[in-house]
Amino acid sequence: MPARIAVLASGGGTNLQALLDVPDAPYDVVGVLSDNAEAHALVRAQQHGITTEVVSPRDDLDRGGWDARVAEVLTGWRPDWVVCAGFMRVLGSHVLEAFPSRIVNTHPALLPSFPGAHGVRDALDYGVRITGCTVHLVDAGVDTGPILDQRAVAVLPQDDEESLHERIKVEERAMLVDIVLQLCAHGCSVDGRKVTIP
Ligand code: GAR
Repeated sequence: MPARIAVLASGGGTNLQALLDVPDAPYDVVGVLSDNAEAHALVRAQQHGITTEVVSPRDDLDRGGWDARVAEVLTGWRPDWVVCAGFMRVLGSHVLEAFPSRIVNTHPALLPSFPGAHGVRDALDYGVRITGCTVHLVDAGVDTGPILDQRAVAVLPQDDEESLHERIKVEERAMLVDIVLQLCAHGCSVDGRKVTIP
């Protein structure tokens, strides 16, 4: 039976696309959820006939209510793994408790450096010569969960945020696909901050 994967995405969805483009993938993307009704990731999903759902932060929904609704939608999709692929919101306890150690996030910096919404800009502003990307399990913090894999990308003198992010994303997509394939095949065990894929 193929593994069931739910993807959370807020924007363009090239990481989602990379997951969808794997030939003979040992998983099915069973749903794509966004906090942003305009996310191009939703179009990509629909083009593949994948169920989509938008859970926007709204005035009538506090943070806990939003998180509970996300957990409800995801639970309905019965995913083995939840993949945050460019998802720009912090998940809360309802989602985390529904999928313990089964939520993966990709981040465009070498954590623990430059967490948060502007990892590429922050690394560039700091003046680092090497940055990169990280795939990690999601915990209650912002980009603080145990690390599954990282890849380094050199910062070039002429880089701006966009050019650097594009090069990072090339590495990021390949790394994310690789880790998702490994997780689907073998799962992982977590001991403190160390994650092992057997
Ligand atoms: C990716 O670089 C991802 O790491 C980043 O958003 C981009 C989404 O690209 N996520 C974060 O910054 C989360 N803090 P995509 O929409 O083309 O997949």
